[in-house]
Amino acid sequence: MSPRQPTPRPAGAGATTRYDSTGGHGHGLFTTGTPVTGWTVSTALPVRYQVRSTPGVLDPANPAIAEAGVPARPGRRRRLLVVEARVHELYGERIARYCEAQRIDHRLCVIPAHEQVKTMDSVFRVTRAMEEFGLARRGEPVIAIGGGVLTDVVGLACSLYRRSTPFVRVPTTLIGLVDAGVGAKTGVNFDQHKNRLGTYHPAVETLLDPAFLATLEHRHIGNGMAEILKVALIKDRALFELLDRHGPQLRAERFQHPAAAEVVGRAVGGMLSELQPNLWEHELERSMDYGHSFSPTLEMRALPELLHGEAVCVDMALTTVLAGQRGLVSPVECARILGLMARLGLPLWHRLLQPELLHDALADTIRHRDGRQRLPLPIGIGAGVFVDDLTPHELSRASSELHAAARALTVSQESRRAPAQARAEAA
Ligand SMILES: NC(=O)c1ccc[n+]([C@@H]2O[C@H](COP(=O)([O-])OP(=O)(O)OC[C@H]3O[C@@H](n4cnc5c(N)ncnc54)[C@H](O)[C@@H]3O)[C@@H](O)[C@H]2O)c1
Repeated sequence: MSPRQPTPRPAGAGATTRYDSTGGHGHGLFTTGTPVTGWTVSTALPVRYQVRSTPGVLDPANPAIAEAGVPARPGRRRRLLVVEARVHELYGERIARYCEAQRIDHRLCVIPAHEQVKTMDSVFRVTRAMEEFGLARRGEPVIAIGGGVLTDVVGLACSLYRRSTPFVRVPTTLIGLVDAGVGAKTGVNFDQHKNRLGTYHPAVETLLDPAFLATLEHRHIGNGMAEILKVALIKDRALFELLDRHGPQLRAERFQHPAAAEVVGRAVGGMLSELQPNLWEHELERSMDYGHSFSPTLEMRALPELLHGEAVCVDMALTTVLAGQRGLVSPVECARILGLMARLGLPLWHRLLQPELLHDALADTIRHRDGRQRLPLPIGIGAGVFVDDLTPHELSRASSELHAAARALTVSQESRRAPAQARAEAA
């Protein structure tokens, strides 16, 4: 029964009383029966959060972190800062100077964060720190500074602590800047399954500063570029052209390059325009799931060999070939897409991409998508479609074709690799 439009019942025995305690304005408490024997609660959860570009976020004069998520108040503030261990090594002194300049009485919780410790134990380390800090319920948002693993873990801890505690994200990796830092999802791995435990609990504010990328390993830059490529392939051809033109240079220069702002802006904007109307994922046909059909199982089974974005890239390469076999992507476009992946230094194939894994991965994804494949496939470059009729035969044909294409590309890539780029990446 829809509480907004109660279904009429016959009058007489079992007479029904219904009213909306808000006076019929859409949400409220509805009752049935005389005397009342049933109650229906209908309400809505308005959500508003900000993602904003904040260059110089650790500049002592920049109040962005200090003021994020709560109304500005004069005087000293208290904050718990959860900082990823490597980020703390690199930026700990600057964070301490920042807190001093902004008059923040803070406590640090420094934790390592990578895929193998993306567990409830890490979540409990954070909730323990929240308890020890004596965190106020609403007015002291937790500040999470680190990559996607750290912000997913802190997000989950905050959604559990007192059922909901506000937090602020300061992403320090490319995946964090364009993906993990901007949506509503939190999570940890469980029982060999990727992000199997999690909640929807967006940060009240996410502050994006690409300057952090200057210290990130090139491999992790490439890893984030895979998520940008996802947005490009499934919905933004202009972004693909930008990546095609500047991608290798962006990677080599760790996004400290003039094209970085437009690339990050388009990636974040594209992601948010898909997430905003379907934040709670009631609609299971999600274009941002592109690259995430086979990759969760591949990533977990290959752990720690493949990073998240790398596994996503292998999935996108496979589904590009699948789309090519169905005539959705032309051979020229297919070659362009796989060629760009190779030029970005991303893997296209993995030895675990065998029929057994593909079968298990698809079965788990069907369960995740409520009984249907709902598999996003690209149409050309920059658009997509959902299919439900993928067969095991098609999948293993695509995997073999991809394996051959990947081998050919790796060989030609190795022989053409510009010495200058190799030197830049080694630096
Ligand atoms: N919540 C979401 O919607 C969402 C979306 C996409 C991805 N994710 C999750 O994000 C995770 C991947 O995130 P990630 O790629 O940021 O990995 P990560 O958090 O493991 O960070 C990668 C590595 O970079 C190091 N690091 C972080 N910042 C650094 C810096 N500025 N300089 C030098 N080193 C730095 C860390 O020590 C870590 O070893 C996955 O677990 C994935 O599931 C979540």
